[in-house]
Amino acid sequence: MTGRIPTLVDLGDVRGKRVLVRTDFNVPMEAGVITDDFRIRAALPTITWLTGRGAGVITASHLGRPKGAPDRKFSMDAVRERLATLAPGVELLENLRFDPGEEANDSKFVAALVKDIDMYVDDAFGACHRAHASIVGPPKTLPSAMGLLLQKEVDVLLGLRNDPKRPFVAVLGGSKISDKLGVVEALLAVVDSLVIGGAMCFTFLAALGYPIGDSLFEPDQVDTCKRLLAESAAVGKTIHLPEDLVGLDAGGRFATFGVRLPDGAKGFDVGPGTAAAFSDVIMDARTVFWNGPMGMFEDERFEAGTRTVAQAMADTKAFTVVGGGDSAAALAQFGLADDVDHVSTGGGAALELIELGDLPGLAALRGACNAPRF
Ligand code: 3PG
Repeated sequence: MTGRIPTLVDLGDVRGKRVLVRTDFNVPMEAGVITDDFRIRAALPTITWLTGRGAGVITASHLGRPKGAPDRKFSMDAVRERLATLAPGVELLENLRFDPGEEANDSKFVAALVKDIDMYVDDAFGACHRAHASIVGPPKTLPSAMGLLLQKEVDVLLGLRNDPKRPFVAVLGGSKISDKLGVVEALLAVVDSLVIGGAMCFTFLAALGYPIGDSLFEPDQVDTCKRLLAESAAVGKTIHLPEDLVGLDAGGRFATFGVRLPDGAKGFDVGPGTAAAFSDVIMDARTVFWNGPMGMFEDERFEAGTRTVAQAMADTKAFTVVGGGDSAAALAQFGLADDVDHVSTGGGAALELIELGDLPGLAALRGACNAPRF
């Protein structure tokens, strides 16, 4: 990674300029109603920075995965309405993914997008891992910069990767270990210990030879988990795994188990002993990164593990970072979102930045015509 990414001040005088701001307004919706406008509010500092200096701002985003054709279900209308109340006078284009050229990174689509535009700002951190037209195209021809949200995400997440205060603990959950393998490996290189909950713990428990009943696990990842356990032990890093579990027994009744699950049982959350132990690890850390719930927290029978971890994230004196998606939703559900230091607006993008140290959107900005060269 060479060269500096241009920031808003590198754009020079923006007065009277038409600035295209790529945002990630891919917000959760139910029946056409926005259920969480976090990503819209997160773009406001950049928008007001520009409008306050006399620029005309045109925002553009994707919403959902409409497969390259207009689809009313994915129209930006509700987002446009919300944006109009938060940033009056700011334009929002229709869903970029209504055109197949967006995901195909088609140069004709880029040309249409930048027509009559003077400058480009990327503030769509959540989409910077996608080499799509609106992310990587405009910096090729327009003076470009990263917005304030993107800048903060990069500072915080690369800060974790490159220079964390120690002990640095990563807490990982969610269901699929295969999705997160790269990030588990990258994190193992920088953390002092790793805490594993969520359904992904069963693949690790299976790797240790524990019976896991009918719990969700990925048989083809067992050998990888064995290797990760051996490698971390060899360098003196602890992988904390559950010591008790909560779930349903073979008869479908709620039950608490030890670490060995009986035949037919299914684990859906870490148990109270584990939640307390994980909480202690978080309280003793100086930096914590959390991605992925500890259990099926949408079901209140199985929310306690995730709630305990969320509360520890809120209570610890450590610098706390939550990687978007489900863990951010859990924090919001428990009313704790304001009690952590940074909630990333990116899910996949946050993991990819930690794993690889760079993203296509950042590389594109580094190559922009106005990027500082040194
Ligand atoms: C996200 O929600 O993680 C981003 O908006 C990216 O969306 P995508 O996974 O559909 O590209």
